[in-house]
Amino acid sequence: MQITSFKQYEEDFKKSVENPEQFWGEVAQNFQWRKPWYKVLSWDFKEPNIKWFEGAKLNITENCLDRHLEKNGDKPAIIWEPNSHEEESVTLTYKMLHERVCRFANVLKRNGAKKGDRICIYMPMVPELAIAVLACARIGAVHSVIFGGFSAKSIADRINDSQCKLVITADGAYRGSKQIPLKDVIDDALIGCPTVEKCIVLTHVRTPVSMLKGRDVWWEDEVKHVNDICEAEEMDAEDMLFILYTSGSTGKPKGVVHTCGGYMVYAGYTFTNVFNYQPGEVYFCTADIGWITGHSYIVYGPLSQGATSVLFEGIPTYPTPSRFWDIIEKHKINTLYTAPTAIRSLMSYGEGPLEGKDLSSIRVLGSVGEPINEEAWHWFDEKIGHGKAPIVDTWWQTETGGIMISPIATVTPTKPSFATLPLPGIQPILVDENGKEILGNDVMGNLCIKFPWPGMLRTTYGDHERCKQTYFSTYPDLYFTGDGCLRDQDGYYRITGRVDDVLNVSGHRIGTAEVENAINMHAGVVESAVVGYPHDVKGQGIYAFVINPEMHGEAELTKKDILQTVTRVIGAIAKPDKILFVSGLPKTRSGKIMRRILRKIAEGDTANLGDTSTLLDPNVVEEIIEAAKALK
Ligand code: PRX
Repeated sequence: MQITSFKQYEEDFKKSVENPEQFWGEVAQNFQWRKPWYKVLSWDFKEPNIKWFEGAKLNITENCLDRHLEKNGDKPAIIWEPNSHEEESVTLTYKMLHERVCRFANVLKRNGAKKGDRICIYMPMVPELAIAVLACARIGAVHSVIFGGFSAKSIADRINDSQCKLVITADGAYRGSKQIPLKDVIDDALIGCPTVEKCIVLTHVRTPVSMLKGRDVWWEDEVKHVNDICEAEEMDAEDMLFILYTSGSTGKPKGVVHTCGGYMVYAGYTFTNVFNYQPGEVYFCTADIGWITGHSYIVYGPLSQGATSVLFEGIPTYPTPSRFWDIIEKHKINTLYTAPTAIRSLMSYGEGPLEGKDLSSIRVLGSVGEPINEEAWHWFDEKIGHGKAPIVDTWWQTETGGIMISPIATVTPTKPSFATLPLPGIQPILVDENGKEILGNDVMGNLCIKFPWPGMLRTTYGDHERCKQTYFSTYPDLYFTGDGCLRDQDGYYRITGRVDDVLNVSGHRIGTAEVENAINMHAGVVESAVVGYPHDVKGQGIYAFVINPEMHGEAELTKKDILQTVTRVIGAIAKPDKILFVSGLPKTRSGKIMRRILRKIAEGDTANLGDTSTLLDPNVVEEIIEAAKALK
C-alpha cells in the first residue's frame, strides 16, 4: 500500500474518488481482521451516520503487536528517551511490548474493567503510557487520554462527561527541570468524580503520594498478581476505540469519538505513506500521547506498521537546546515529526546547539499542528534536513484521526508553508460564506471535506447533536474543518488558520470561550473577551481584555491572580500572554462583543478597524487602543 511515485499517487487518488469502496477495501486488506466486512462504507453527512467496514471484527492490538511477533518479535517497537539525558534509554521489542500490554490488560480486568468501560489515562510520556493505551484496546475498554498539563477541574469535567470507571496515572512527571505532581492533581479531580472506582498509580518520580484504601493501587504491585497471557477482545469495526477531548469555539471541550476499524486502517495507511517509512528505520514523533498526534503517530500508526517509534519524555530545551539533535544522533533517527512552535523556539538559539551534531541519519522531516511560516520551513530544511530531506507539512485534526492534506515523502514536490495535496481518499473543497463551492485555482475559502474517510470522527461522546451542529450543519452535506485555506495556481493547499474562535497556541488547541469562562471565574472579574494575536514562537498568543476587576492589591497582582485562576480551571497551557484591564468592551447595540476590533487591537493594527458604525459606544475603542499601546 506504499505509494512510490507521483504517477502512482495520481492514479490512487483518482481511484479513491471514483471508487472509494474498492480503494479502501484494498487498503484494508493489508491489516489483520478476525472476520471480513460485508460493506466497506455506508454514510450520510446529515445525521451524520458513518460506518466503515461494517460487520468486520478485529482487535487493533493484534495489528499493532501480535502480527509482528513471528518475523519481527525482536525488533524495537518503542525506544524510550527519558527526560534526563543522564538516564539510560529503554528499548522495548515487539515481544516485550506484547508481553507487557497483555500483563497490564490483565491488571485492568482484575480491577474490574471490561469491554466498553471508559478509562481515563493521565500519565507522563513513559513506555507505560503506551502500554496503558494498548492494554485498554486489548480488552475493548475505551481510553480517554488527558494531556499532563490539564488541571484537576479539566480532568474532572472530562472524566464525568464520559463516566470513566478507572483512572491510570503516575505519582508524578518530569518536565525539564520541573516535576509535576500528577497523582495530587488526580486526587483533587476525583473528589468530584463519583463514577471512578479504581485508580492505578505507576511509580515514576517516587514522590510521596496519598493512596486511598479501596480505590488506589500501585501499578508495580498489580502486575505481580497476573500473568502475561491475554486473549484480545473481539471488537466490531465500529466499536469505540477511544475518546479524545478537544476544544471548540463554544462551550466545554467535546469528546471526539474514534472507532476501531476505520481509525486503524487510516492511521496505518497514512503513516506508511506520508513518511515513506522503510523497514528498520527509526521514527521520532515529538508530540505528547495526550494529543491526537501521539495517538495516531507515536502509538497506533507506527506500531500497526511494525515500525520503531521513539517516545521522548522531556522537552526540546532540556538540559540544553541541543536535546533533539542529541537524540537524533544517539538513536540514528530517520524521521523527525515535530511542530512549528518547537522549530521556531530552537531556531531562536541560533546554530550553536547544532554544532558538531551528526544529523546525517535524517531522511524525512515532518511538521504538524499549526501553519509553518516560510522562515521556519527553510531553517528546518537547511539546518536539519541539509536540503536533502523532504518536509511533509501535514494538515489534519483531532476529528480527522489522521493526516489529510500533506506531501507524501519522496513523492510529492514540496513548497514552503504548503500542505500541498490531499491524500488518496480525501476530497477537500473550498466554500464561501454561503457554502457555495469555490472552483478553480488561485482562490481562498473555508476548508470542507465532501466525502467520508475511514479515520473520521463518528460522534462526540454523549451528545451526537453537538457533533452534527459543530461539523455538519454550517454547510449542508459537508464536514466543516473550521480552517481557512488557499489553493494556489498549482492546486496546492495552504492552511491559513482557524476561521472560528479557536486558538492555536504552540500547536495546542484552545477555545477563546473556554479561556473567557476561566477568567470570569475569578472572584473580581465581571466580563472578559479573549482573542489571539501573532506570536513569534507560539504561533498565536492569548490576549485577554478584562473589564476592570475588583482589585486586591496592585493591578499586576490581580493579573497574577487571574492567571492562577486560569491555571486552576483549565491548566497552564491556557494562561493568557497579555491581560489588559479596560473600562468596557466594544459591543454592538444588541450586546455582542465585536471581536474583530479586539483582534485588530491585539495585532497592533489599529489604522483600519473596518466598519465601527454598529458600535454602542465608539469611545470605548479609543480608550482600549490607548491602553493597549501602554501594555508591553
Ligand atoms: O487549524 C488547524 C491546525 O490545527 C487544528 C487541529 O488541531 P488539533 O485537533 O489539536 O490537531 C492538531 C494535530 C493534528 C487544525 O484545525 N493545524 C494542524 N496541522 C496544521 C494546522 N494548520 C496548518 N498547517 C498544518 N499542517
